[in-house]
Amino acid sequence: MATILVTGGAGFIGSVAVKTLLSNGYSVVVVDNLSKGKKDLVDSKAKFYELDLVDDLSKVFEENKIDAVIHFAAYKAVEESMENAVKYSSNITGTINLLNRMVEHNVKKIIFSSSAAVYGEEKGVISEDNETNPCNYYGFTKLECEKIIEWYGKVYGIGYVSLRYFNVAGDGGLKYMDPDAKNIFPIIMEVLVGKREKVVVFGNDYDTRDGTCIRDYIDVTDLVKAHILALDVDYNGVINLGTSKGVSVKELVDWTSEVIGKQVPFEYGDRRAGDPPTLIASNEKALKVLNWKPERSVKDMIKSTYDAYKQRV
Ligand SMILES: NC(=O)c1ccc[n+]([C@@H]2O[C@H](COP(=O)([O-])OP(=O)(O)OC[C@H]3O[C@@H](n4cnc5c(N)ncnc54)[C@H](O)[C@@H]3O)[C@@H](O)[C@H]2O)c1
Repeated sequence: MATILVTGGAGFIGSVAVKTLLSNGYSVVVVDNLSKGKKDLVDSKAKFYELDLVDDLSKVFEENKIDAVIHFAAYKAVEESMENAVKYSSNITGTINLLNRMVEHNVKKIIFSSSAAVYGEEKGVISEDNETNPCNYYGFTKLECEKIIEWYGKVYGIGYVSLRYFNVAGDGGLKYMDPDAKNIFPIIMEVLVGKREKVVVFGNDYDTRDGTCIRDYIDVTDLVKAHILALDVDYNGVINLGTSKGVSVKELVDWTSEVIGKQVPFEYGDRRAGDPPTLIASNEKALKVLNWKPERSVKDMIKSTYDAYKQRV
């Protein structure tokens, strides 16, 4: 079976991908600098290298016959990217370094973690044909990587799929707890387990059904499945990964109270700059090109994430 190099394999999504690849019979090599990831999340059957993507990656490619790369490693905190562009530039330089080693060792396939952040302030239901116009440096790094990967595809014949994720949530069975909660799902969970007093909902005067922002939440297990399918597909390009269903922040808070049977205290705060009212993925292309369908609902994601938090705290 093929050997897959998973960058960022000690992180939230990468660790689930490692476990899933192994259970599908792949051999797995992981590179992670552990800046956010945790070594104990990496399945012990995978070979692990603690390296930064900007480091010399030669030995990873010399010691293993890599058939394809799934590239998750990146810094991803939007606000931080607007304060420390130097750090976030390594999302780009690390990707170039990785691609150069792939060229040197004749590795012909890469699946790249991109993001809905490449669309910037586009709103509503977003297809891959919508304009890309990132409004933060993190989103810019993702878009630049997509373009560089596309060029390496043209110049060196590397097959590529850049997957633009919407809001990833749920637990893939590894009982993951975000060490640095910045997104609404882990924030709600921290309130439930007593690590935080209440949820602050940013803005309730948007033009949406209840005034709060609407987002598209995709389960991490469903998301990872799309990567496995992308490894074998004969298609190069960008594909959205979402459910095509929008849930408002207020609905998410209410549904959590209902599913867990425990009231989630919350208050309304001011709007945050750069938050579009509605962000929903059109997932038609993923359905068609990858023959993929998300299976887990937001209520499933609430249950699995809460179970993880309950056990970890
Ligand atoms: N979680 C989401 O909702 C979401 C949405 C859109 C896109 N993404 C993208 O998906 C990918 C995985 O996200 P995640 O949620 O698992 O994040 P995460 O922070 O849990 O995982 C990223 C991993 O990459 C490692 N890493 C970061 N920079 C590195 C570098 N220069 N060299 C080596 N390792 C490095 C970190 O230690 C971490 O283990 C990222 O590229 C992220 O931008 C995530």
